[in-house]
Amino acid sequence: MDTDRLLQQLTDFLRIPSVSTLPAHSADCRAAAEWVAAELRRLGCREVQFLASGTHPVVWGVGPEVPGAPTLLLYGHYDVQPPDPLDEWTTPPFQPSVRDGRLFARGAADDKGQVFCLLKAIEAAGRPPVNFRFLIEGEEEYGSRVLFDLLRREPERTRADAVLIADMAYVAPGWPAVYTGLRGLCYAEITVRSAKSDLHSGEFGGAAPNAHEELLRLLGRLKGPDGKINIPGLYAAVKRPTRTELTTWRGLPFSETQFLKQRVQAKALAGLKQYSVLERLWALPTFEIHGVLGGFTGEGAKTVIPAEATAKVSLRLVPDQKLKTVERQLAAAVKRLAPRHVQASVRFLHGADPAVVPVDHPAFRLLDRAFREVVGRGTVAVRAGGSIPVVPALGKSGAPVVLTGIGLPDDRLHAPNEKLDLKQLWDGIKVFRRFYELLGAKA
Ligand code: BES
Ligand code: MN
Ligand code: MN
Repeated sequence: MDTDRLLQQLTDFLRIPSVSTLPAHSADCRAAAEWVAAELRRLGCREVQFLASGTHPVVWGVGPEVPGAPTLLLYGHYDVQPPDPLDEWTTPPFQPSVRDGRLFARGAADDKGQVFCLLKAIEAAGRPPVNFRFLIEGEEEYGSRVLFDLLRREPERTRADAVLIADMAYVAPGWPAVYTGLRGLCYAEITVRSAKSDLHSGEFGGAAPNAHEELLRLLGRLKGPDGKINIPGLYAAVKRPTRTELTTWRGLPFSETQFLKQRVQAKALAGLKQYSVLERLWALPTFEIHGVLGGFTGEGAKTVIPAEATAKVSLRLVPDQKLKTVERQLAAAVKRLAPRHVQASVRFLHGADPAVVPVDHPAFRLLDRAFREVVGRGTVAVRAGGSIPVVPALGKSGAPVVLTGIGLPDDRLHAPNEKLDLKQLWDGIKVFRRFYELLGAKA
């Protein structure tokens, strides 16, 4: 494997700041889509198209036709999360740099590095007998609405013998995984308005309502200090994990103390204490506050009573919760918990239903074998706390959805100093190459 050349190519991809949620980066998203399209053409794709190109384009590709061979759909995303806070990066997020065998850059693990891995494994296999289809989108980090709409109109795009997604991680170093579930998401802005306009805090302080104070009280009521979410009905649909799952999870190389000390790096863990940490991460809903806007946050000091405050929040959803139901429940709870004298409203930005992914199709045994041959251990079936909105839609045509990845738990997705271990990448190329060969041999 010419690792120098490969590293150079991945670096070119990572240099493009394709932040899908920020309108200022639209041209960069397009450049990243162009980068993917060029790679697909290099792989000999008969068809490379930008679909739904009104926004960040979905890159669609159809590989060389191999009569009688199985069809494999590869899904991934070329968009990334915003890189801030910038001053916490050791080297800048869009100037990829290698330290200690690790490649640091926004998107290194999520998901450009892994898309790269899937594509280079095809090259490494030299035209394997597989009919490849590609769906590489640019809005995964912003809810995938465009791809959703596209697949609703054109479900035949997902027709395949299997779907392969590499956007996840090993459960621990040396422990590759396949995923049986993803959490869903309900992303919203909660706004509280307390007066017609901002007021002098000396003239009015003590007698006028304060929007931030009202919002914070409201947020405090939505989740108690014990981690319980106070949204009526929210837990009703939540299914307990199966006995088999709980047994598997107990056998994983996962220590709650190490998770706290090495990964969370805080003084204590939060959440519902009566459940194990893995249950809290994989099988229970969450309510998180991402940021609070409004009032005065500039440099210096301004004495003002803000009239409006907005919180960006989200809930993670688990089987069998439904996004639509949770949206209604959140809106009703906000209405009920806000005091009469303020105007509280909820605006939903994006979301996804939770995904349940069966892993009993023969394709999973091939991936297990490929990992066993290359890294010495097969895949363990676990769940993930994160979300990939289109996963349920990708499986609609009945194809098994193989959710896996080459990342490691300490890759710092969405955070400063995101990285990908190069050993994981080189192994990953060999694993997927082997998987394609095994799949092709079924023809
Ligand atoms: N690759 C992640 C999903 C993921 C993260 C799976 C960690 C397993 C473990 C994906 O890119 C992601 O971050 N998704 C977003 C989706 C959202 C913005 C709709 C997420 O989970 O926050
Ligand atoms: Mn991802
Ligand atoms: Mn992500």
